[in-house]
Amino acid sequence: MTFNVTADAYGRFMGRYSEPLAERFAQEADVRAGQRVLDVGCGPGALTAQLVERLGADAVSAVDPSPSFVAAIHERFPEVHVQSAVAEHLPFSDDYFDRALAQLVVHFMTDPVAGLREMARVTRPGGLVGACVWDLAGDTGPLATFWRAAHDLDPQVRDESGLAGARAGHLAELFHAAGLKDVEPTTLTVDVRFASFDDWWDPFTLGVGPAGAYVAQLDESQRDALLDRCAQLMPSAPFEVSASAWCVRAFA
Ligand SMILES: C[S@@+](CC[C@H](N)C(=O)[O-])C[C@H]1O[C@@H](n2cnc3c(N)ncnc32)[C@H](O)[C@@H]1O
Repeated sequence: MTFNVTADAYGRFMGRYSEPLAERFAQEADVRAGQRVLDVGCGPGALTAQLVERLGADAVSAVDPSPSFVAAIHERFPEVHVQSAVAEHLPFSDDYFDRALAQLVVHFMTDPVAGLREMARVTRPGGLVGACVWDLAGDTGPLATFWRAAHDLDPQVRDESGLAGARAGHLAELFHAAGLKDVEPTTLTVDVRFASFDDWWDPFTLGVGPAGAYVAQLDESQRDALLDRCAQLMPSAPFEVSASAWCVRAFA
């Protein structure tokens, strides 16, 4: 899936979850000064920012197929080496990085096993390959209430639960299939606070990702019904959403 949206729209919809997640993910991937690290599917830079803080910009490379996100990284981190590319065809030589990381990307890859294999190829032997994907099949992901409401109104709705790595255990299976060694799965959880129901709902109308695309193709009455159902299911404001991602790290 391509993300044809502005960095600002992405930030309002997903950045509020992916920024705190990036801190946890960088910690889990044991990112330390002196390493050279690749951010695969960098988006507007939630993980990139963490890597720059820990390593310095000149030790960070990033790729993404979305032109608006590549431009956003150029502007935000002029020293980061960012290119337009997909995980399945990484424009780097073998063994170039100490870490290759993909935060919230594997489920959007056309061929996730090929993408992870490429990440392993560009990582030096003994270096670490890491990825995380929200729990999009159970109750603990950030979009669980949204998709539950959509299902209540339309049992045939195509949600994100079938995407690669979205269900418990699947991300680790993909790592094994890509030939990675010492595969270690874990779960990362972040808590995000919302001041009001509108603060939570409005970003769904910005067209970001599969949830935004779903809202965008509804007619007005369908959208109102979905909003009402979400309002019934969400707690009274202010509230926190606890969001969990499956995370896997392994060695190249
Ligand atoms: C949910 S966003 C995650 C962005 C960022 N990593 C973050 O955590 O906020 C998914 C990103 O994956 C990118 N993407 C989609 N398909 C990809 C592929 N095959 N290889 C690399 N990136 C891809 C999209 O353009 C988008 O920026």
